[in-house]
This record gives sequence, structure tokens and C-alpha cells, in this order.
Amino acid sequence: MQDPLKNIVSLCKRRGFIYPGSEIYGGFANTYSYGPYGAELKKNIKDLWWKFFVQFKNDVVGIDGPILLHPLAWKASGHVDSFNDALTDCRQCKSRFRVDQLIEAQLNKDIEGISLSEMTEILKDDKVKCPKCGQKDFTEARHFNLMFQTEMSKTDKGHNIAYLRPETAQAIFLEYKNIIDTMRVKIPFGIAQIGKAFRNEITPGNFVFRVIEFEQMEIEYFIEEKDWKASFESWLNEMKKWCDLIGLNKNKLHDKEHDKEKLSHYSKRTVDITYDFPFGTNELYGIAYRTDFDLKQHQEFSKTNLEYFDNVLNKRFIPHVIEPTFGVERTILALLCDAYTEELLENNETRTVLKFSKHIAPVKIAVFPLMKKEDLKKMSLDIFDQLKKLYKVEYDEAGAIGRRYRRQDELGTPYCITVDFDSLNDNSVTIRERDSMQQKRIKIDELESFFQKEFKI
Ligand code: GAP
Repeated sequence: MQDPLKNIVSLCKRRGFIYPGSEIYGGFANTYSYGPYGAELKKNIKDLWWKFFVQFKNDVVGIDGPILLHPLAWKASGHVDSFNDALTDCRQCKSRFRVDQLIEAQLNKDIEGISLSEMTEILKDDKVKCPKCGQKDFTEARHFNLMFQTEMSKTDKGHNIAYLRPETAQAIFLEYKNIIDTMRVKIPFGIAQIGKAFRNEITPGNFVFRVIEFEQMEIEYFIEEKDWKASFESWLNEMKKWCDLIGLNKNKLHDKEHDKEKLSHYSKRTVDITYDFPFGTNELYGIAYRTDFDLKQHQEFSKTNLEYFDNVLNKRFIPHVIEPTFGVERTILALLCDAYTEELLENNETRTVLKFSKHIAPVKIAVFPLMKKEDLKKMSLDIFDQLKKLYKVEYDEAGAIGRRYRRQDELGTPYCITVDFDSLNDNSVTIRERDSMQQKRIKIDELESFFQKEFKI
């Protein structure tokens, strides 16, 4: 059987969605570049997310914080001390592995929470083989901090190491006080952010599933402690509405409750929304009840009072936090996996289609003159000029019409418009719908209202 991920990776390269990073230098592992259609897809996802979670909500505001935060913020958040994975190296072939993944894959044993020396004992037991060279000769398990470090030219009060943020969340916590002081927000309220995060992952891979530079879309929703359970459920529900909006296949989505003893250092409850990727069921998104951990830590380390004053109840308190978090790259990968379809047509040709939802498709409409005749071209270009002010539209006059349809199918374009000789007389065009391939005639001056209805959220 063909590996479905392989087909997706190949289409992404061939059609300008995603290229391997630094390819002309022989590549730079686990980095990727988004080509013209990938960049459109990514932008559509982020814009729609912002619309759904910021613009449509009365109680969420957005920010755009820095990637580099004061180094003490990462000490306060626990990342300097606890954002580690345990790793081991194969002494024979020098490959590096995450110990938990190695043991889980070969011994089917979940080792979350055990000590480094216990891990080393298991590795010495002679049951685990190096997946690369087959030897059983590993170094002792040791911690590896996942934060990327960079050096500052100017020392800021003795700190010359800065960290590239491993999550966008902390930039939100650092602005919580400014938002309270300047925005007239009242608890409960949320702060949202979309931005880059960096992790020095030991075993990245599976295309863009686990990369070292990625984007997160996160909300920190500030509440009173007593409301955490209801708020958690309501945000989990909002996350599912989002999955629906972007057209993810419900049957491939699942909730995975984290066991109490495996929760991150800041969380009292975490649920992952997992997705059935071709390489297994894995985390797509997550929601965590971060309690008042982060704000308390930042209050202590920054020596700044971060209490909220509730003037109705006349009391001060540190708010608790519910955090829905979404990875942009994993969204793209799940959407590609859902959308990728190969169909056998009546003429025995195979048609490859990306069945993206209309809202996130990189190109919304393609306009073709049936043939390269001046009057057909002019009419097509007029339609293209009119529609491109409203949507991402492509104009294509090259090659047989069937091939032009196939090309747009592979890009996931929901509608193609063809201008033919009848169009010159009846001012109508043919619209072809991507999934059904059905065609219908429509008047040119009704195109705008037709698409307005089709692309309405
Ligand atoms: N602020 C909470 C947080 O960062 P996380 O589960 O570590 O939680 C949130 O990450 C989301 O970011 C994940 O659900 C996933 O979508 C995405 N993500 C995490 N690590 C990633 C990586 N190495 N590559 C791509 N996406 C990643």
C-alpha cells in the first residue's frame, strides 16, 4: 500500500505548498518553507482563527508579543528547569533518541514520570535496540532542555543568554497587567496571540508534525477559580466548533484526557484533541487548566503585583487560567491529510483533489478562457480583475481546459469559471464545482453575489 504521507509531501513540493528548508544547501533538517499556496493556506487558517476567537468574541482581545522575553520570565515559568526531555545516544552509530519514545515503541511501556536512573536501567536491560543500527549500546539517560538559546551582544543586568520562546503563552502572561490597566477588561476575559515558537526537539519528524520552528495560536482565558470546570468545558466545545469550521473530519478527532500523574508542571487538567494522522493518532491541539501558576510565579519573580481588583465584589485575587492551544503546522497537516483524495474517473484517469473547506482553500476561484482568443481572454481578465479585489483568484489560459481543471483540483480551488464563445453573446459563464465537478451557467453580473453567499462564514 502507498504511504499516504509520502503522496502529500510530494504534492506539497510539486504544487508549491511546502518545500524542505534550505534545500540548495542540501537541506536543514526539520525546517520547512511555505511556498505561495502554503503561505495562502497558512494565512487563511490564522485569519479565520483570529476572526473566530478574537473578532467574534466580546471577551477576548489579541496581542502580538515579542519572541524574546526577559530571561527571568523563563525561570519563573518553569521552562529553564523543567522543559526537558530525557535523551540517550547510541554509542555505535551516534544516533540520538528520546528515551520515552524508544522504550514505548519497543517495550510498549509508558515510562512517564520515572527517574533518569530508572530509564538508564531499562536501557541497560538489553531489550532495547537502536532503531538505526540494531545495537544495544546506549549512553546513560540525561535531561536535555528544549529551549533554543541565543547570546545577546549587550548584557542586560548580567543576563547575556536569551531564549527563543518555546510557547507563545508566556508573552501573554507578561502583558496581562498592561491589558488590565489599559483595556477596561473584566474577568472573565481572554488574551489571544498567534506567533512563532521554537523547540530544540530531539526527535522531530513526520513532515511538519514535529518541527523546531512552528506557530502557535493560543488563548489565555482569565477566570475566577470557582469557574474553572465550566470554563474548561465551554472552551473545549469552542475548539470543536473550530475543528468543524475548518472542515476536519469528526471521525478522526478524539479527546485524550491526560492522567493526573503525567500533567505538565503547570496544569491541573489537560485534554488533547488528537487526530488520526497516517503515522498514528497524535496530539493536534490541547486545552489546559493552568490554575494561577504562571501569574503567581511572574508576580514572585518580577516583584510586580499581578492581582486583579474586582470592584463589584471588592476583592483582590490572582486569576486562574484556561488555555486552549492550537498548532498552525499540525492544523495544516491534518487538513492536508483530510483533503487529499485520489479518485478514479469514468475515463480511467486518476484525479487528485485537495478537498479543502472553502474557507481555508488557498485559491478560491480560477478563471479560464476556453481558448486563447483575444475576446475570450479579455472577458476572462475583466472577471479576474473584478473578483481578485474580493478573493484570491487565479487566471490561467495555458493548455487544455481539462488539464487546467486538474491543476486547480490539486490546489483545492473550490470553483473554476470558464468563459466560452456563448459567453460573448449571453454574458454568462460556466462555474464548475471542485468536488462534484458539476457545472452550471451563471450571469457575469451575478458572480459577486453568488460567491458572497458561497464564502459566507
Ligand atoms: N502553551 C501550551 C503549549 O505550548 P504544547 O502542547 O506543548 O502546549 C501546543 O503545544 C501546541 O503546539 C500543540 O498542541 C501542537 O499543535 C503545537 N506544537 C507543539 N510542539 C510542536 C512542534 N515541535 N512542531 C509543531 N507543532 C508543535
